[in-house]
Amino acid sequence: MSRVYKHISQLLTLEGARKKKGRHPLEKDLGIWEDACIVVDKAQKVLWLGATSALPETYHRFPSQSCEGETWFPAPVECHTHLVFAGSREKEYGMRCAGQSYLQIAEKGGGILSTVKATRKALPEDLLRLAVNRIESFASNGVSAVEIKSGYGLTLESEIRMLEVIREAQRRTTVQLVPTFLPAHAVPPEFKGKDDDYVEEICHVWIPEIAERQLATFFDAFVEKGYFNIKQTEKMVLAAKDAGLRVKLHVDQFNAFGGAELAVRMEAVSADHLDATSDAAVQALAKSDTVAVLAPAASLFTGTSYPPARKLIDAGARVALTTDFNPGTSPTTNLGLVATIAASQMKMTLPEALVALTYGAAAAVGLEDEFGSITIGKRLRCARIQAPHYEAWAYGFGSVSPEPLGNH
Ligand code: NIG
Ligand code: FE
Repeated sequence: MSRVYKHISQLLTLEGARKKKGRHPLEKDLGIWEDACIVVDKAQKVLWLGATSALPETYHRFPSQSCEGETWFPAPVECHTHLVFAGSREKEYGMRCAGQSYLQIAEKGGGILSTVKATRKALPEDLLRLAVNRIESFASNGVSAVEIKSGYGLTLESEIRMLEVIREAQRRTTVQLVPTFLPAHAVPPEFKGKDDDYVEEICHVWIPEIAERQLATFFDAFVEKGYFNIKQTEKMVLAAKDAGLRVKLHVDQFNAFGGAELAVRMEAVSADHLDATSDAAVQALAKSDTVAVLAPAASLFTGTSYPPARKLIDAGARVALTTDFNPGTSPTTNLGLVATIAASQMKMTLPEALVALTYGAAAAVGLEDEFGSITIGKRLRCARIQAPHYEAWAYGFGSVSPEPLGNH
C-alpha cells in the first residue's frame, strides 16, 4: 500500500548537493521543503514529494500520517569503521592521557597489534555478536549503510574470518554493509623486520584470494611512518585494482607522507583522515573525484590536530565525515557528535556537515546513486529527528539521534 506523510516541518532532499557531487555545499543545496509531504509506494519507492498544500488529487485517498515537528533527511551513511574486533583498549587510553603518543604506544607492541592479538583469539560467533551489536548501534541512529574494514587479523586465515563475519552480519541486518580488505593495517609479528616480504605476500597471495572469494569491495592500507610507505602502498594498490577491488587509503593521519597525493594518483574512491596533510595535497584532492573522509572524533579522542576541513571545502574537494569507529582512536558510533565536533572545531557550516554525513559519506563508499539523497523514482532511504529544523542534529551535541524509518 502507498503511504502519504504530510506536514513534515522540514524535508531535505539534498538534490543540489548531489548535482554538485558534494562540492561547495551551501544551504540552498539541501533542497529544503517546509511543511512538506512525501508519498511512497509499498516498496518504499518515492512517488511524489513537495509542499503538503500541493499534494496531487490522486494521492488524497491513500492513508496518511501527519509529521509536524519532524525533520526528515537522507539517512546518514557511516563510511569508515573497524567494527569487527575483540577486546578493548581503555588501558592504552589511560597511557595516552598520561602523556604517551599513539605511535609511541604502538612501538611498544600496544595499539593495533594488541587488538590483533585479542581478535585472533576470539571465536567467530563472538566476533559476529560484537559486530552485529555495533551495527545495530549505528542503525538505531538512523544509519543506512556501514563500511567495515578487516585489519585486526593480519594472517590470511584470520583476515578471511573477519570478512566472513561481515558477510554473515549482512544476513542479520537491513543496513547495507560495505566490506573492505585492510591487510596493510600494521606489519604483523610474523613479518617483523620483513615488511617488504609482507607486502609481496599481500600482493601475490592474499589479494587474489580475497578477490576470488568476493569477500571485499574495497582494498585499504595505513600509509604512515612505521606502517606502510608510498612505494609499498603503490604496489598493493596496483595489485588490488588488478584483482577488481576499489581503493580507499588511510593517509596523512599523523604525518604528511605523500599518501593523499598517492590516493589521487591511484584514483582512490576516498582518502581518509588527512589530519596532517599538506596544502599541495589539499589542492590535488580538490581537483580529483577522490572523497576526503574526515574523522574529527578520532582527533578529539587522540588529542591531535583536526584535519583542514575548511581548506578542503573551500578548495572544492568532496568531503565526508565519519566516526572512524575503532577501539584505539575512536570508540564511538555517534554521528551526531561527529557533526558537532566538525562544526565547532573544524568550522564546517551545518549544511556542509549534513552533506558530509549523508551524500559525501555515500560517495566515499561508491553508493551515491542509491544513498545520501532523496529523489522521486528512487527508494526512500531516510531518517528523521524530532525537531523542526535540521540544525538540531548537530546542535544536539550527540544527544539527538536520527530515527530510522524502517525503510533501509
Ligand atoms: O583509523 N589509523 C589506523 N587505523 C585506525 C586505528 C586503529 C586502531 O588503533 O586500532 C584509525 O584511526
Ligand atoms: Fe581507520
